[in-house]
Formats: sequence, structure tokens, C-alpha cells
Amino acid sequence: MEKVALKDSSYQLKRAKILNIKKLTDKEKFFEIALMDRDYLDHEPGQFIMISLLGIGEVPISICSSPTRRDSFDICVRAVGKVTNKLHKLKTGDEVGIRGPYGKGFPVRILEGNDLLIIAGGLGLAPLRSLITYVLDNRRDFGKVHILFGCKEPKEILFSDEMKKWSERTDLHYACTVDRADPEWAGNVGVITTLIPGVDIEPSRTFAAVVGPPVMYNFVIKELLAKGIPERQILLSFERHMKCGNGKCGRCQIQNLYCCQDGPVFNYEKIKYLSEAF
Ligand SMILES: Cc1cc2nc3c(=O)[nH]c(=O)nc-3n(C[C@H](O)[C@H](O)[C@H](O)COP(=O)(O)OP(=O)(O)OC[C@H]3O[C@@H](n4cnc5c(N)ncnc54)[C@H](O)[C@@H]3O)c2cc1C
Ligand code: FES
Repeated sequence: MEKVALKDSSYQLKRAKILNIKKLTDKEKFFEIALMDRDYLDHEPGQFIMISLLGIGEVPISICSSPTRRDSFDICVRAVGKVTNKLHKLKTGDEVGIRGPYGKGFPVRILEGNDLLIIAGGLGLAPLRSLITYVLDNRRDFGKVHILFGCKEPKEILFSDEMKKWSERTDLHYACTVDRADPEWAGNVGVITTLIPGVDIEPSRTFAAVVGPPVMYNFVIKELLAKGIPERQILLSFERHMKCGNGKCGRCQIQNLYCCQDGPVFNYEKIKYLSEAF
């Protein structure tokens, strides 16, 4: 029988194998995945993939490794429902289907030469870990780098081994805070916005990259503007429910924008008029 070519190769499902799985917290697991046939993703920091499990479903998940590591890529998955719970049950060597990468990520060429203020709330660290590892792999191309991470409780901290290494580096400033401490916690307590006023930045040459739960955005933006960071230098990533991931179904639409294709990373100056976005 004659083969029918796919009209749009961006829908093509690629076979991939799980190389490594680690438990990060009670809810999140880390997966290292490689595409079959020595293929590679070729993504930008901040982009996402659609990952599918045969007979179960397909979900959008951010790529959390740097494109500078080409042989495999990483994702960090929180178990919340049908597909993500099933993903958590998979083992090393199991196969998954991958579409993508999709969307617009962080504009690394524009960020080069500037200072960065990276602000991650909870699972928002997943897409930002891709940007952070990219920046650390190309450290000389960027100015000062500040990383702020916040989550509800110490047991929710993701990638704690890597955070420890970031905190020991002299070429970046790292700070972490939790909303509620436990008896062993000796660090900052308070929401992530409490860390922003103390960060020493030159606003005109600083780009802020922010990813976290929707409730965080209004408060963080207010602090960044109070610091004097121009609106066009504030970059935000938005998660919306998605189906095609590719600008066709309208599921992720906010007014005239498609989160999957125009985002998920947006420049605040361009989206501040979208009241539904915040
Ligand atoms: C661009 C993008 C990047 C994402 N990156 C990650 C990531 O790196 N790691 C990760 O764990 N999750 C990520 N998500 C969220 C992830 O897609 C959802 O958790 C997943 O679709 C839930 O699927 P499920 O079948 O397991 O749950 P379902 O059974 O479909 O739903 C379980 C619960 O999750 C809610 N939910 C479903 N889809 C979404 C969604 N898109 N956003 C928020 N809540 C949702 C449902 O309303 C329901 O309350 C991302 C979402 C988007 C749009
Ligand atoms: S998910 Fe279909 S248009 Fe964005």
C-alpha cells in the first residue's frame, strides 16, 4: 500500500525511551528521555513537548534541560491526573510518544550580554531549569545572574542537589524561600516577593524571567516594576489547558493569542492588556 505523507510534520509522533527516573518530592518525578533513531529535540529553553502514553492520553510538559545537552532531554512531572499518574508508574526502558518541541521559549539571543533575574515559584522551576542550565553552560555570554526560588514548604523543593551547587557558586546570586518552615529549616521564610526588594540589580540592563502559579504573577510584576525593570524586559510563561499544542484547536486561546504558539513565554509589555491572563 502507498504511504500517505503527513501534511504537517510538526504533528509527527516520535518514539522515545526513558533512560532515567528519579523521585524529586512526594508529587514530582524527574525523567531523562532519549528520542529513538539518534534523533534530538533541538529545543529552546522554555519550550514544551506533548508526551503521550498509548491508550491513556497526551499532555503538555515543559522541557527542563538545556539544549546544550543534545543526546537526551529532561522533564519534571507532577502527578495530578490520568496521564501524569500513569507516567509516574513507568520504569526505565519504557517507551513514550513525543510531539514537539512547541511554542516560543526564552529569547536567549536577546538575553545575551544582559543581567538576569530568574524567579521560579514551585513547579515553575521546571522550564526555568532549562534556561538556568543553558546560561550556566554559556556563562560568559551573560552578565550578573540572580536566581530566586520559592515554594510552600521545604519538602516541596525541587532539584535540591542542584540548588545547593547554585548556592555555592560565586558567579551567581541564589536565594530560596518557603511560605511555611519546618523545624529543620534554617533559611528564609516568606513568599517569593519578599526576596525581590533585596536583590541588587541595575534595572535598565536586567531581564526578568518569571514562571510560577498564576496567583504569583500580579505580585511579582508589581515588585519588578517597583524595582524599575522596564515592562518589555519582563518575560512570563503561561500554562493554559492545551490539546493540539500547535495553534489549531483554540483550547489555549487568550483573546487573540494562542498560548501554545505565541507563548508559553510572553513579554509583559505585549500582554499586559489581557485581563484574563492575570
Ligand atoms: C505549556 C505547559 C507546560 C507544562 N509543564 C508541566 C511540567 O513541566 N510539569 C508538570 O507536571 N506539568 C506541566 N504542565 C501541566 C500538565 O500539562 C498537566 O498537569 C497535565 O496536563 C495533567 O494531565 P493529567 O491527564 O495527568 O490530568 P487530568 O486528569 O487531565 O487533570 C487533573 C487535574 O489537572 C488539571 N489540569 C489539566 N491540564 C492542565 C494544565 N494544562 N494546566 C493546569 N492544570 C491542568 C485538571 O483541571 C485537573 O484538575 C504544563 C502545562 C502546559 C500547558
Ligand atoms: S493547544 Fe490547540 S491552539 Fe493551543
